[in-house]
Amino acid sequence: MTEQARVLVTTPLPSGSETALLRAGHEIVRAGGCTHADLIRLARDADAVVCTLTDHIDEQVLEAGSGRLQVVANIAVGYNNIDLGTASRLGIIVCNTPRVLDEATADTAFLLLLAAARRASEAEQDLRNGRWKGWRLTDYLGQEFADRTLGLVGYGRIGTAMARRAAGFGLVVRHHTRRDTGQPGWTGDLDEMVGEADFVSLHLPLTPETHHLFDEARFRRMKRSAVFVNTARGAIVDERALAEALHSGTIFAAGLDVYEHEPRIDPLLLTAPRTVLLPHIGSAAEQTRRQMAELACQAAADVLAGRRPANVVNGSPAI
Ligand code: DGY
Repeated sequence: MTEQARVLVTTPLPSGSETALLRAGHEIVRAGGCTHADLIRLARDADAVVCTLTDHIDEQVLEAGSGRLQVVANIAVGYNNIDLGTASRLGIIVCNTPRVLDEATADTAFLLLLAAARRASEAEQDLRNGRWKGWRLTDYLGQEFADRTLGLVGYGRIGTAMARRAAGFGLVVRHHTRRDTGQPGWTGDLDEMVGEADFVSLHLPLTPETHHLFDEARFRRMKRSAVFVNTARGAIVDERALAEALHSGTIFAAGLDVYEHEPRIDPLLLTAPRTVLLPHIGSAAEQTRRQMAELACQAAADVLAGRRPANVVNGSPAI
């Protein structure tokens, strides 16, 4: 238990979300916009770090904090920005923010699915730029939902929230996970599902195994009328292969919220037809972001008080 700890917070937080840390009397060091070099320097004097997915909490940062740093609380459900192996080796607890963002993220995935399937971005751009010449029977034809198949890759909380939305639109939902979920619609054969689905949406974490899971060969398996959605992590997809699949008409459309090298976007993707691109706003609802920040601060406060939070993602470090 650390009486008066120093907590490094790497981003401005919604007001009131640090209450758990302030109530415990901890000092908050605000370091919004800090560079990787700043992180290494500041981690040396920190008992806890509250960070976001844009902070690379790698071996250098964790080693700098080693001996004092007890917890890294990531304000995100994904934690591929943190070197878990090193954190575990150094006895540093790593926490994420699950559950509170499930609905907002599924909303964004569904928004992208609808917008890409019905070519909303392209149609709106034409209207705004004076290119719309009036209603025509054959303009902006997209894909309809009723009785068509949505294949979900990954079926955790966000995937199941997506399935609930899809059911309301008359979609037949299938899902792929490595282990049998025991739920209707499961398949262990990703290629078979991808080949039969009209729509494919990703809801799985980025790990070494899922890196570039969607590559040129996989896009070639999809229907030419297929719509592809990614709100998970950019690097699950070979972005260049996706851009080429869109340009060549190998698939019909895509809706993306995440990118391989954020905030850089492959220029070929920027010019790809029937593509809706959002700037990683999956969880960006006021209530959700506040809850994420609160959850991360509460997790940091818990560890500093000698309590083990429920949202620890690295198995071994004990409190
Ligand atoms: C997460 O929590 O991992 C999301 O990408 C942030 O919206």
